[in-house]
Amino acid sequence: MPRRTKPDAIALIKEDHRKVEKLFASFEKARDEDRKKALARQICTELTIHAMVEEEIFYPACQGSIEDEDVLDEAYVEHDGAKVLISEIMSNINARFFEAKVTVLSEMIKHHVKEEEKRSEGLLAQAKAAGLDLDELAARLTARKDELTRQFAHGHLPPAHTRSYTGHNLIQDKPLSAPAG
Ligand SMILES: [Fe+2]
Repeated sequence: MPRRTKPDAIALIKEDHRKVEKLFASFEKARDEDRKKALARQICTELTIHAMVEEEIFYPACQGSIEDEDVLDEAYVEHDGAKVLISEIMSNINARFFEAKVTVLSEMIKHHVKEEEKRSEGLLAQAKAAGLDLDELAARLTARKDELTRQFAHGHLPPAHTRSYTGHNLIQDKPLSAPAG
């Protein structure tokens, strides 16, 4: 049987998913505060790059080709939700709620990954069924990922672009204390 030398686009996306799952598991186990912060920064950087290459290359290739585009819309909304938490984590790494934000981000990503990898109706399965050129997409994903990895190596992430969120009108506030008496 001929051995594939290069992973296709679907294999690459799945590799990224497995990598970030491992990082979240390490975060959960970590006890040292500095280690937790370093892991959180690494998670946020990996996810930012992953979301960017999907949104720039993979999702546009799926648009107009896959059978059920609702999953694509949901993927954009899930990404935008994750971007808000990523931005929160990166700018408030020493604040209260830091750990809770990473934990909730991990739950959101778990859900998103499960949806993308679902048998037959998931985005990856649909991309395969649509006959997209997965080798050509893999080459583009890899090139862009390498470029972004170099760009973000210093740990500074630029503000993310939302693709579906447009209605932010929020007031920053704090948890309330129980009423006296
Ligand atoms: Fe995604």
